[in-house]
Amino acid sequence: MVLVTDLASAVDHVPEKFVRPISDRPTLSEADNSGDSIPLIDLRELHGSRRTDVVLQLAHACHSYGFFQIKNHGVPETTVSNMLTVAREFFRQPESERLRHYTADTTKTTRLSTSFNVNSEKVSNWRDFLRLHCHPLEEFRHEWPSSPPSFRDTVAEYSTAVRKLVLDLLEAISESLGLSSDGVEKKLGGHGQHMAINYYPPCPQPELTFGLPGHTDPNLITVLLQDDVSGLQVFRNGKWVSVHPVPNTFIVNIGDQMQVISNDKYKSVLHRAVVNSEKERISIPTFYCPSPDAVVGPADELITDLSPSVYRSFSYSEYYDRFWNRGLANVTCLDLFKASSH
Ligand code: OGA
Ligand code: NI
Repeated sequence: MVLVTDLASAVDHVPEKFVRPISDRPTLSEADNSGDSIPLIDLRELHGSRRTDVVLQLAHACHSYGFFQIKNHGVPETTVSNMLTVAREFFRQPESERLRHYTADTTKTTRLSTSFNVNSEKVSNWRDFLRLHCHPLEEFRHEWPSSPPSFRDTVAEYSTAVRKLVLDLLEAISESLGLSSDGVEKKLGGHGQHMAINYYPPCPQPELTFGLPGHTDPNLITVLLQDDVSGLQVFRNGKWVSVHPVPNTFIVNIGDQMQVISNDKYKSVLHRAVVNSEKERISIPTFYCPSPDAVVGPADELITDLSPSVYRSFSYSEYYDRFWNRGLANVTCLDLFKASSH
């Protein structure tokens, strides 16, 4: 069986290829489950008289946490619930229907796959995922699954609404860095937007494997929608901290490109997904990114005598290829792009 969704219902133990070495297991009992994990920012005033206050909260969250939750984000509740429903429906289809989209080629713009990168990794992860490019919409929409029948319309509506939210956030984050409102946006070339629909089936031995092992996101900024099942953990102060789902919120995290543009003011933080023996879990990250040809480097205004450029300039496609080909290690790709390493 290629996909873990179908394997999961047929086994009562985790097959060898998913078992992590002892030194690299989730140690679930050691995670901080208190629930008091990352800031919750109310975006209602983003276009109101207290915008400066929101911008200050963003600055603090991006600098000290690299992760935050947002409420009153402007994406309609029905758009969100339809997205979750169609995602669930997609993964509940017969295997033969899902497999029409399967490929291990990481350069394909629409693809169903499993684990992380089956070409380069030694141990597999307890996850299947569908990845889609979403911007420009009309360039990619015809590649998307046409089953379930509402898939394309629902995903188009959701990704358009999330793009608008991201553009608002980018303006505020630019201001929070002391740049003009379009400071970050200007570095992205034509812009890119990818989406993953992650499906984590119940796992008979969740302490032996990961849904996704620790990683930082290679893109600019990620907006994560999750269902009501916990699984995301963020690395903070030397510990893995669980981020439990809060209804009507998104989780936002700073990706590697924002760390570069901010010249290390903002941090792209390690996170991972653990699985559980009871319930399936769906998470839907939107990865907002530069276009492949965009040349990324720290914003000029943030390079000074006291804080010289930490990174060299590079094309986003160079970075992205490194990310996929390296295999998800508990280290970030960022070190390969430091100014001092060439
Ligand atoms: C990712 C990711 C976390 C989750 O897809 O990059 O970090 O909770 N997902 O599924
Ligand atoms: Ni991630």
